[in-house]
Amino acid sequence: MADFIWQKGRASVDERIMRFMAGEDVILDRELFVYDLTASRAHAEGLVHIGVLTTDEGQQISNALESLRVAFLNGEFELTDRFEDGHSAIEAYLTDVLGDTGKKIHAGRSRNDQVLVATRLFLRDRLDALHHACWTCADTLLTRAEADPDTPMPGFTHLQHAVVSSTGHWFAGYAEAFIDNAALSADTRAWIDANPLGTAAGFGVNLPLDRTHTTKALGFSRTQINPMYAQNSRGKFELQTLNALGQALLDVRRIAWDLSLFCTPEFDYITLPDEHTTGSSIMPNKRNPDLIELLRASYGVVAGARNELESLLSLPAGYHRDLQFTKAPLLRALRHGLDAMALMPDVISGITFKAEHLRARIEPEMFATDLAVQHAAAGTPFRDAYRSALGAGDALADVTPEDSIAKRVSPGAPGQLQLDHLRQRLNAVRPNL
Ligand code: ARG
Repeated sequence: MADFIWQKGRASVDERIMRFMAGEDVILDRELFVYDLTASRAHAEGLVHIGVLTTDEGQQISNALESLRVAFLNGEFELTDRFEDGHSAIEAYLTDVLGDTGKKIHAGRSRNDQVLVATRLFLRDRLDALHHACWTCADTLLTRAEADPDTPMPGFTHLQHAVVSSTGHWFAGYAEAFIDNAALSADTRAWIDANPLGTAAGFGVNLPLDRTHTTKALGFSRTQINPMYAQNSRGKFELQTLNALGQALLDVRRIAWDLSLFCTPEFDYITLPDEHTTGSSIMPNKRNPDLIELLRASYGVVAGARNELESLLSLPAGYHRDLQFTKAPLLRALRHGLDAMALMPDVISGITFKAEHLRARIEPEMFATDLAVQHAAAGTPFRDAYRSALGAGDALADVTPEDSIAKRVSPGAPGQLQLDHLRQRLNAVRPNL
């Protein structure tokens, strides 16, 4: 590791302790580095505005930061443990190429607001990606409902046969969930869209920093005003981002559960494409829904990360180095969760319902509820209609699943899916990327 930016004189540094404290931080910073560079540029411009840097110095720093970005992206500049963290790497690079001018970058900022702003920009990007992924899932599900709204299938409660449902009802139910999840991602993005840069170590600085400029330059919708709160929001905003991700993965888990049941020989409701299943290493007869199961398990990855984060946030006000450990679970959960989300549209498109088989599984008793309601509508007290419905024999045998669906017209029900309403809402939460 090179000298530390905070090193003064010759006080000795214990390598073992330093390695423990740095941990994998500099490696994790690879995911945050470009955001740190963008924010550093805005900070330098702000320093020009208040005369701490000359225009020429500001320009040199901006150019060098841009060169560093290019070198980093094409692999010429590697973020390795020769640096304590990404922040130190930026200052080291600027000092290398610009000498004394490079050393001026850190006036008026601390690594505490530097890591905050880089993470905030990263979160914003990932929430955009989540919004996009949820929207695409919802669109794919709704398209499937629109293409085939009325194929009858058994409806379950308690995993027991209940009433007739339809594949359109199943697809549309999950479509609505992902519309909500897309909206939540957008709301969460708006909630965290506050600029912490310019709060320094958590107490501000004795300079009239141009925070309005950095807020605008970094595209934030507001400035996070109180420096102590800016520090306290580290981890808090990450947690809310993982909550939004977790909501989406809860629905992924439900879909995966349904599919894993539907593809068993006992249900035999669907087939999955070969490329979504795998063989067994020992049993030649098997095709396993491993992909579906790993998608189901993905919620666990995010929930685990969220627990880890939450456990770390038991802290008094202000910056504490504990917060560094929030990075690993955050990055891991977002990487894994967004990978899972990106696979979902293909999984949804790949489902083939076995229409004949679904229909054959519907027995006349599943029409009993419809019959009871029908008699109640004609004036029989519902409780009496309920008691007589099961014994209705022929009346039940004459009903078809298609009838049952067509007459289930309460808004949202299989006979009245209101897919146009869902389509309208989906259009209203379309990401503008
Ligand atoms: N790697 C550190 C973190 O993630 C950067 C901030 C260091 N600040 C400090 N005061 N030691 O928190």
